[in-house]
Amino acid sequence: MESVNSRVAVYPGSFDPITMGHIDLIERALTIFDRVIVAVANNPRKNPLFPTDMRERLIRESVARFDRVEVTTFSGLLVEHMEQLGVRVLIRGRRALSDFGYEFQFSHMNKRMSPGIETVFLMTSERYFYISSSIIKEVVRFGGDVSGLVPPPVESALKSKFGKNSIKTKG
Ligand code: COA
Repeated sequence: MESVNSRVAVYPGSFDPITMGHIDLIERALTIFDRVIVAVANNPRKNPLFPTDMRERLIRESVARFDRVEVTTFSGLLVEHMEQLGVRVLIRGRRALSDFGYEFQFSHMNKRMSPGIETVFLMTSERYFYISSSIIKEVVRFGGDVSGLVPPPVESALKSKFGKNSIKTKG
């Protein structure tokens, strides 16, 4: 269990893969919290491109320069994982208004299951407002360039995944 004075937050997601939008959020969360634990959901419902251990490895490589960031993986309910970690603050990054509907459901349901949990929302920086892991995968799949939108280890992993098989459109 964390000490009372230690400000720790969990930042959960599928991170399939982690993008610069996520990194930007982690960096900003570090200005508020002493420690940020990135929690990678083993979320088979989303049919991930990268298996959980690969997503975790890509995050570790991408956050190596931050010494107050840890990475964990979990299956099942997020609130149960947070209880195991002894952390009660949850960070959610939000982009557009359309994110808010789901977010109300998500935060209220989590609170109903674990009343001690508080959700802190951080707005995604305007530079990354339009990206998501899915759109990144789609662009690379069709041979497009995502440099600057994902950390270098992710760019390499995407290239080796789609490299030869990326679908180039004609003229
Ligand atoms: N910059 C760029 N993209 C961002 C972003 C940011 N700051 N914040 C979110 N996104 C993207 C994500 O990459 C994701 O893209 P994708 O749908 O193409 O994969 C999309 O926005 C949605 O993000 P999010 O709402 O965080 O979904 P997620 O799948 O990444 O994470 C879990 C959802 C894993 C946190 C949630 O499903 C969970 O907790 N699951 C465990 C089971 C559970 O407890 N359920 C809750 C019941 S109330």
